[in-house]
Amino acid sequence: MGGAVAETPDFCPPPLSPRMLPFASCLPGSLLLWAFLLLLLGAASPQDSEEPDSYTECTDGYEWDADSQHCRDVNECLTIPEACKGEMKCINHYGGYLCLPRSAAVISDLHSEGPPPPPASAQHPNPCPPGYEPDEQESCVDVDECTQAIHDCRPSQDCHNLPGSYQCTCPDGYRKIGPECVDIDECRYRYCQHRCVNLPGSFRCQCEPGFQLGPNNRSCVDVNECDMGAPCEQRCFNSYGTFLCRCNQGYELHRDGFSCSDIDECSYSSYLCQYRCVNEPGRFSCHCPQGYQLLATRLCQDIDECETGAHQCSEAQTCVNFHGGYRCVDTNRCVEPYVQVSDNRCLCPASNPLCREQPSSIVHRYMSITSERSVPADVFQIQATSVYPGAYNAFQIRAGNTQGDFYIRQINNVSAMLVLARPVTGPREYVLDLEMVTMNSLMSYRASSVLRLTVFVGAYTF
Ligand SMILES: *[C@@H]1O[C@H](CO)[C@@H](O)[C@H](O)[C@H]1NC(C)=O
Ligand SMILES: *[C@@H]1O[C@H](CO)[C@@H](O)[C@H](O)[C@H]1NC(C)=O
Repeated sequence: MGGAVAETPDFCPPPLSPRMLPFASCLPGSLLLWAFLLLLLGAASPQDSEEPDSYTECTDGYEWDADSQHCRDVNECLTIPEACKGEMKCINHYGGYLCLPRSAAVISDLHSEGPPPPPASAQHPNPCPPGYEPDEQESCVDVDECTQAIHDCRPSQDCHNLPGSYQCTCPDGYRKIGPECVDIDECRYRYCQHRCVNLPGSFRCQCEPGFQLGPNNRSCVDVNECDMGAPCEQRCFNSYGTFLCRCNQGYELHRDGFSCSDIDECSYSSYLCQYRCVNEPGRFSCHCPQGYQLLATRLCQDIDECETGAHQCSEAQTCVNFHGGYRCVDTNRCVEPYVQVSDNRCLCPASNPLCREQPSSIVHRYMSITSERSVPADVFQIQATSVYPGAYNAFQIRAGNTQGDFYIRQINNVSAMLVLARPVTGPREYVLDLEMVTMNSLMSYRASSVLRLTVFVGAYTF
């Protein structure tokens, strides 16, 4: 190539033949290319149709159409599988095709800035109405402008073929603003009860924690966390937007708000149980010492082993119950010179000289008191069984009161009260001889009888 050629633009055709001389001057590249192409096609006259070589003249992007005897644009968007990858939209182009982003705002009319229409349509007038084309049976059929890519819908628009025409519409969720489809911000319309997230072409509603989308995907309904495995250890209460853990009776909620710990009720008060409080999971129970049974929930009641038959006393013995236990005593406790006259009663016969200075009778009685009674406390009343006119009875503690824990308070001629003078603590027992001296001043009569009272003091205050 000479220096003159080097100065010419790339698309300047080489000076090949005299026929092309009119085009030898440099034209803008694309125009020149098309002019050159027309020249070539023009050279392939209809008379050459018998020669198979003739249609090989079609350039890339065109194919020979035997019917029209012309080169015809190939719609690569239809013939090449996956002509455009991903989100790219295929736009057919005379002699080629373009891949454009769907969303890209691009030149709207390829025709206006692109090459002229192919020679086929120019040379064979379409006998059909606009939007139709003749088929092989010479009848007019609708042209699908959308698949043939001869529409002017924007990449943001959807093309819908119609009989004889087509329509450019915006996809759902888009609105036409000017020539373009623009995403509708549905969130501006307060479709969502709680929160709204706008998405290209749509929107999504979201709910605050503790709520979930309702069936209409817009309103928010409370989530029942209790049914969804809320981590409450014992009891779960659903509430609007949240939940609360609670504990069963006898448990308290831990600081974490979920777990429950046993309440030590016994540590709260010493009055819960009369004797002993035993904490248990979720509750407490009262226990009683041996010989007692629980009365209701907190009180202890002495078990009367003599009544229940739980005693071990023999036939010759009498069972004596006291606070916290029982005692088996010989039924006959009479000691010489006394003789037994009935249960509990021994008599010293006046005929026996040994009885002269002795109380004429001894009666055995038993009683039980609790520890630490407040004093003074009346504990036992003595009553003369026979009343003689003009007789006077005097009462005294004859034996068993070495520490002065008791005293006698005379009530009248025939009765007196044994009084506990000091608080005593069991277990212990006293055997008190309470003597009644009967006197008749007129007859100078004097008689003495003894009530031998065994006082059991229980170990407890109950
Ligand atoms: C709600 O959204 C779900 C999942 O996206 C969908 O299957 C369902 O049809 C939607 N319901 C309504 C009423 O829109
Ligand atoms: C009690 O004894 C006195 C004599 O000391 C007598 O006067 C009185 O009537 C007696 N009372 C009764 C209730 O027996």
